[in-house]
Amino acid sequence: MSTAPLTFAVHRNANPMPEAERVEAFRNLGFGTLFSDHMAIIDWHADRGWHSPRITARAPFQIDPAGSVLHYAQEIFEGMKAYRDVNGRIVLFRPDENAKRFNASARRMAMPELPEADFLAAIEQLLAVDAAWIPEAEGASLYLRPFMFASEAFLGVRPSREYIFSVIASPVGPYFKGGAKPISIWVSQNYTRAAQGGTGAAKCGGNYAGSLAAQAEASANGCDQVVFLDAAERNWVEELGGMNIFFVMADGSIVTPPLGTILPGITRKSVITLAQDAGIAIEERPYSFAEWQADAQSGRLTEVFVCGTAAVMASVGTVKSAEGSFQIGNGTGGPVTDRLRNTLIGIQRGAIPDPHGWVRVI
Ligand code: PLP
Ligand code: COI
Repeated sequence: MSTAPLTFAVHRNANPMPEAERVEAFRNLGFGTLFSDHMAIIDWHADRGWHSPRITARAPFQIDPAGSVLHYAQEIFEGMKAYRDVNGRIVLFRPDENAKRFNASARRMAMPELPEADFLAAIEQLLAVDAAWIPEAEGASLYLRPFMFASEAFLGVRPSREYIFSVIASPVGPYFKGGAKPISIWVSQNYTRAAQGGTGAAKCGGNYAGSLAAQAEASANGCDQVVFLDAAERNWVEELGGMNIFFVMADGSIVTPPLGTILPGITRKSVITLAQDAGIAIEERPYSFAEWQADAQSGRLTEVFVCGTAAVMASVGTVKSAEGSFQIGNGTGGPVTDRLRNTLIGIQRGAIPDPHGWVRVI
């Protein structure tokens, strides 16, 4: 099997969305409902490895009813954003990290790894044909969704011998409808997300399927998002359905749950570095729900924020559980969150220097 970088064939969409229609659609961007004209695809077969890399018109896949993803959920994905920086250049934020995490997820799910260069080439080739789909409004971006699923038709329980890797693109506005308003989160005591030895650190579809009932419970209780506790003791705070979480103390120090059963967020990793750069003491350690309640009540805890590619950074104003609710600080966010968010967004948008070389110009 060849390991040379793949060259993509480009088949342009014969019926792209007319420009006027796209411009109109850009006026009211939500999250993940509008899609660009093209997609990237690479096929994998146990006997051939990765083959047939191509950019095509975005179209449905044909999957056999016995296609193994439909039965045993061998599926992984990534989430990243392309946007224009303050100088009008098309950029990505730490895409090499997404490529690495994608392969870590692939290993956990017994799927083939995709060479990082091919993962990045698929994204760059897609952006080359769909550059007009990058919205320019403040806070808007082209959300990229690389994913891979098992496509072999068989019902035995073993890793598939065929996979499809694809990238689709969706112009998006802010993830939260309330904009910069602090969010409310529901502490799930009925459901957990991941156990030691499970798939919590992998970005596999099943983790999200399992989170939906908990998210529905959060919504039914008037909350924006759900936060999970650990599966063994139902004591330690883990993460949200699609975001990592940070706790800011009155002395300016920060605590965030350690890696293990949570998704190793790229925004999380970046925020930790930015906090360290700013001289903030940041600790990755288990933090319990009891500690959280006590710290909020005593005033030791002043801010809580969540972060992820889709959500960027959002303050948490209210925390609710079956035991009642409490507020974080005065419920409106705080200066540490604002400062870290401004630094992160400033680097991402090229408005301030990028000391770690995180931004990749396409
Ligand atoms: N945790 C979960 C469960 C997620 O789905 C995400 C989103 O990708 C994150 C955390 C944040 O990760 P990242 O910052 O890499 O987007
Ligand atoms: C992302 O932030 O990219 C995710 O995949 C999370 C999801 C909630 C959209």
